[in-house]
Amino acid sequence: MNIIAKSSAFAPATVANIACGFDVLGLAVNTPGDVVEATLYDEIGPVTISDITGDGGVLPREAHLNTASVAVMALCKSVDFRQAISLLIHKQMPLGSGMGSSAASAVAAIAAVNALLPVPLPKGSLVTFVMEAERIACGSAHADNVAPSLLGGIVLIRSYHPLDVIKLPVPSELAVCIVHPELEVRTETSRAILRKQIALGTAIEQWGNLAGFVSGLYTNDYDLVSRSLVDVVAEPVRSPLIPNFMGIKQAAMRAGALGCSISGSGPAVFALAQGLESAHRAAAAMVQAFADINVVAQSFVGLVNDEGANVLSVERF
Ligand code: HSE
Repeated sequence: MNIIAKSSAFAPATVANIACGFDVLGLAVNTPGDVVEATLYDEIGPVTISDITGDGGVLPREAHLNTASVAVMALCKSVDFRQAISLLIHKQMPLGSGMGSSAASAVAAIAAVNALLPVPLPKGSLVTFVMEAERIACGSAHADNVAPSLLGGIVLIRSYHPLDVIKLPVPSELAVCIVHPELEVRTETSRAILRKQIALGTAIEQWGNLAGFVSGLYTNDYDLVSRSLVDVVAEPVRSPLIPNFMGIKQAAMRAGALGCSISGSGPAVFALAQGLESAHRAAAAMVQAFADINVVAQSFVGLVNDEGANVLSVERF
């Protein structure tokens, strides 16, 4: 088999849920993110994983079990593209972190392979293929990591059936910090503990905050965004999985954050802030609050990433 083309793509980490939007809101950050290199051969053949770096040997190398190859296989099947492809995955973020790690690899892989197709599909139409990869990773095809990682910005999943993904406006000073304690929580576990039914009063509170958050984004109203960053659905159930969660949250709020909650399914915690300086202060306070209970934590601070997945290179031979 001869190599006929190569490409590489980056896909960012994401904060799913953003407190008030369980499974329907997510945002992309500038760093960290994963990079995938795709190699295309001149013969019909399978999608394979040639290697994975940065995962400590933990992630599956079998194509049908890895999110990156599952997403690529779903894309190739839909456009009837049968040439052999191999993927080299560079994991550049912690696994099981709540930062959309499985989505980022899958998004980077599909973006790299899409760039090699005779007629690449628009980014928006790739979301459904990567959702299949999320199903492999955690048993649920949620789109609140996948869609922002692909499209960038802050994304609302208005509907799953049919899929309706809306990119929301981002106030220019809105900054994000993610603090990741050195713990691993599997999304599957963190979803399994959620209540399957919620009280009407709880739902009213949650959808009021969700609407308030979206409204605050459209009107650049940081105070409304702040008041709306409340999660009465997932956070109360999941926060016991994160040591000293209330202490971490109080530290972020005292440092001036607009709001603070669990990033995706955790254990990472995120805060939104007005301005990068404020986000840095919140991150430092959260890292210190983890250190106070002898947990090492790493922080990532930046503005919202508007671009999402990014093709880094395409070479044809
Ligand atoms: N919305 C999903 C959850 C995101 O909270 O389970 C998982 O990263």
